Amino acid sequence: MKKNRTVLVTGGCGFIGSNFIRLLLENYPEWRVINLDKLTYAGNLLNLEGVEQVEQYRFVKGDICSFELIQDLFVEEKVDTVVHFAAESHVDRSITGPADFIQTNIVGTFNLLEAARTTWLSDSSGIDSPQFLHVSTDEVYGSLGKTGFFTEKTPFDPRSPYSASKASSDHLVNAYFHTYGLPVLITNCSNNYGPYQFPEKLIPLVFHNSMIGKELPVYGDGKNVRDWLYVKDHCEAIVEVLNNGLVGNCYNIGGNNEKQNIEVVSLICELLDKKLGLPESRKPRTSQITYVADRLGHDRRYAIDATKIKDQLGWQPKITFEIGIERTIDWYLAHQSWVNAVVDGSYQQYYETMYGDR
Ligand code: NAD
Ligand code: TYD
Repeated sequence: MKKNRTVLVTGGCGFIGSNFIRLLLENYPEWRVINLDKLTYAGNLLNLEGVEQVEQYRFVKGDICSFELIQDLFVEEKVDTVVHFAAESHVDRSITGPADFIQTNIVGTFNLLEAARTTWLSDSSGIDSPQFLHVSTDEVYGSLGKTGFFTEKTPFDPRSPYSASKASSDHLVNAYFHTYGLPVLITNCSNNYGPYQFPEKLIPLVFHNSMIGKELPVYGDGKNVRDWLYVKDHCEAIVEVLNNGLVGNCYNIGGNNEKQNIEVVSLICELLDKKLGLPESRKPRTSQITYVADRLGHDRRYAIDATKIKDQLGWQPKITFEIGIERTIDWYLAHQSWVNAVVDGSYQQYYETMYGDR
């Protein structure tokens, strides 16, 4: 296991990336962490409030599509580890506007791989045991029927522009391993939930809409199934793969926790009714649930077989959905100013305040 690392985290101002950086700074004070983020609509410096002052942390505003910037960072910082989160991540946006997904998820990943290849694999690199960990999704495997699970051997069958762009990037990462011997690792994870998730995704969107008395949109019949994993469990799995994973391997990460969307939405309503009492209408919050037109090409069911990571690395989720969802709702209740800053767009001014003179 490497003791000291200089980790380039891409997309560290997003949902999972910011949780990951917090975990690293807490548990690995000897690791240097460089956060490279373009600050798209999904990137939020408030997710890392308080972290700016930590000595071993550096934020760089930049685009993974800009090759020179990345290559300079690799050289200047002597990066030996990449954990690549940066992506366009919302399926609905990929349906209405796929271009950014192709650019960031495919071209951006290609640029990072090229920067890693040209610096790490050059004769004069001097970098000891580098690692490139690509964070991907179970959505690359397509959609399941009522039974079955995705394993690492399930053929790719992506069906949305988002999942197709992620599958493309996974293929590129594998190609760099087989062709050039670049030391890569890939993780394919199920749906995450927890603090700092942008309120366009199901769980924070339902929280926010419930709080302001808006309808809770449920696509189609509400019976699509997702396997939910608490974000901290995902972040711990990534660290485990970095520390003990076998180069060239891919690891599925899942919560073993399948739920229909309608079950998740109803549970959030019930938790809020219990914690806050009924809204002014005196009707339970479930009355706000509104079935709306289905998402185009909506994948029916995702379910992960995470046997490999459990058997080989001893990782398994620690936080059950019942505990995780309550913890998540408590976090959003305690951080309503964070939600409001995202919803009113004021979170985007934070860069100017913090780093405007750079
Ligand atoms: P997110 O949308 O919350 O954050 C993405 C981050 O990437 C943002 O900070 C954004 O500013 C940054 N970014 C986007 N384009 C960039 C670019 N061109 N250059 C630099 N930075 C850029 O996403 P998330 O939910 O945290 O997901 C992170 C990663 O994990 C993604 O690769 C996603 O595919 C994968 N993943 C997500 C889930 C999930 O449930 N959210 C599950 C499995 C895998
Ligand atoms: P989402 O959080 O967008 O994640 P993903 O599409 O990557 O799984 O959606 C989770 C599930 O919830 C998915 O089946 C679509 C559904 N959904 C709704 O029913 N209503 C909504 O408003 C949203 C955003 C999602």
